[in-house]
Amino acid sequence: MHCEILTLFPGFVREAVSYSMLKRAQEKGLLHVRIHDIRDYTDDPHRTADDAPYGGGAGMIMKAEPLFRAVDAVRAQCGAFRLILPSPQGEPFTQRLAQDLSREERPLVFICGHYEGFDERIRLGLGGQEVSIGDYVVTGGELPTLVMIDAAVRLIPGVLGDPTSAQYDSFTDGLLDYPHYTRPVRVRGLEVPPVLLSGNHKAIHRWRRKEALRNTYCKRPDLLKDRVLSQEDRRLLEEVLQEEACEWPLGEPQGSVT
Ligand code: ADE
Repeated sequence: MHCEILTLFPGFVREAVSYSMLKRAQEKGLLHVRIHDIRDYTDDPHRTADDAPYGGGAGMIMKAEPLFRAVDAVRAQCGAFRLILPSPQGEPFTQRLAQDLSREERPLVFICGHYEGFDERIRLGLGGQEVSIGDYVVTGGELPTLVMIDAAVRLIPGVLGDPTSAQYDSFTDGLLDYPHYTRPVRVRGLEVPPVLLSGNHKAIHRWRRKEALRNTYCKRPDLLKDRVLSQEDRRLLEEVLQEEACEWPLGEPQGSVT
């Protein structure tokens, strides 16, 4: 995965990509990141990247021309690319989109907006895909960009030490994760569920699937709505519902497919 990040805070982004998995992915040659300071593309001695909004009002707006120039420079260096505009107005970022970004062959160019937003002509002139990381506003596009890159990179084969880790992440198949335990067996009177110590891999697999369904049902029931359940999942969820002493709250679940 190749990422070109256009930002007013290159130091912040450089620091953030130099830890943990993003660092390891770069060391393994599976992630290539280049960071561009938008101020390098301004044309005044003060390196002005923002200005007051036409029509008045609070806040500052990112100027269009420095960003156009920055994108032109990236195009000259990289050729065709896929442009991502982090924005609260964008389509929701999901695991599916993370998967899509992780498989993108073209360089991904992220424009990190700041201040109250950017001049509308950036959207109009450059197109690109507006993406939101949630229905709230953060101060700039840097954190959303890092969230997207992190979520995508961990799906690239070879980035995670154990290739099955991502396979069982929350959301990978639309369910939340099951609970995890590590040593010791007893912590402050709380014990590891015995099935995990049993060595019975089939029983462990079944328990994990059931607990993933329970977690999803209890914490994010919206994820189960309209979901087509396999016969086995339906059986497990029925057990969960009996244990949780409740009925299908979401309308009857769909019939089985597998
Ligand atoms: N910039 C500011 N808030 C944002 C959000 N929620 N998602 C993406 N970019 C943003």
